[in-house]
Amino acid sequence: MTLNSAFTATLESKLQQLRDDRVYKRLNYLDSPQAARVQMEGRGQVLILSSNNYLGLSAEPSVVQASIDALHRFGAGTGSVRFICGTFTIHRELEETLARFVGTEASMSFCSAWNANEGFTGTMAEEGDVVLSDALNHASIIDSMRLAKAITKCQTGVYKHADMDDLRAKLAAAKGAKRRFVWSDGIFSMEGSIAPLPDLLQICREHDAILVLDDSHATGVLGATGRGTAEHFGVVGEVDVITSTLGKALGGAAGGFVAGSAAVCDYLTQRSRPQLFSNALPPSVAGGAMESVRFIEQNPARVQTLRDNTKYFREQLVESGFKPLAGETPIIPIIVGETATAIRMSDMMLAEGVFVTGFGFPVVPQGEARIRCQVSAAHSRDDLDEAIAAFVRVGRTLKLV
Ligand SMILES: Cc1ncc(COP(=O)(O)O)c(C=O)c1O
Repeated sequence: MTLNSAFTATLESKLQQLRDDRVYKRLNYLDSPQAARVQMEGRGQVLILSSNNYLGLSAEPSVVQASIDALHRFGAGTGSVRFICGTFTIHRELEETLARFVGTEASMSFCSAWNANEGFTGTMAEEGDVVLSDALNHASIIDSMRLAKAITKCQTGVYKHADMDDLRAKLAAAKGAKRRFVWSDGIFSMEGSIAPLPDLLQICREHDAILVLDDSHATGVLGATGRGTAEHFGVVGEVDVITSTLGKALGGAAGGFVAGSAAVCDYLTQRSRPQLFSNALPPSVAGGAMESVRFIEQNPARVQTLRDNTKYFREQLVESGFKPLAGETPIIPIIVGETATAIRMSDMMLAEGVFVTGFGFPVVPQGEARIRCQVSAAHSRDDLDEAIAAFVRVGRTLKLV
């Protein structure tokens, strides 16, 4: 048997095109846990400003210990699908914990938020339904809608980013549909902006639509006690369905969940294909995520530290002459224009010992390439000052400040 060399050759040529277009992604290997500073292979210690480890729980001793304890108690994994070989009690406990935390009746865990989103739309949408999405929603929501449309022939549509008039118009046009679903991110990952949740709720009520909020960047981040976008706006318990990840503020391992009514979660157990045909979350991951929630509930000061660090870093950037997109979340994009500039800036920052990622077209619109800073509660003021000093040096070289 020989390998298919034409297949490999096509891929090699596509990869070369990515290099020629300067959009090829180089992986940086780390040899230490996610923290304010990490050991990067070939670079030594670098300050990290591009992690979703918002509360610094990835390396929190109690979170690591809870993962180890669950590993010892339940072993490496389920060995099969939940309904076939049994569901660990730690999954039930995690799901109860997550539901309590985000303020819903129940929740259902998945191996990733990607799976949760895909599982939700693919399972719930039916022929005759209309599913609408904010233009800047995460790729997992977009793909979940593509999948649902392919499976069920439901109709899909996109409303302009955070444009409530456009949403109203699209919902009005969908008046005759069987049901209307509206998907929005809680915090938009490339902008760092917060969805206008009270308006979304009101419009969805007016148009008899079901609101589904992906709070992946907001869980553990927004609200006085980190319960997410609903807590930020004082509307806990009012969102039909919330999805989120365990791979960011809640320990950063992996996993996601759908939270909503008991009926929503039971229906996902019965019908969602990632539940029916794929293994459950490893128990060690469930244990770490559960301890992360417990930690946040007992240490709301950690959420406040994140907020203080965010405010400080945003102020220091502005004082140094940068113009980050305005906002209040720890996602702080600095628009630099061309993709090549964003990539060059990111490389120069790494040479200064700061790991911060540049994003260009097609991830963001043409001409709006950016450096996306992400602040963590794990950063000390010294860390943030050091990052700002590096930004100023690089910004001057690139004539951005
Ligand atoms: C808004 C949003 N939803 C879903 C995901 C996917 O999360 P996970 O890594 O758990 O699949 C992400 C991750 O980047 C995200 O930002």
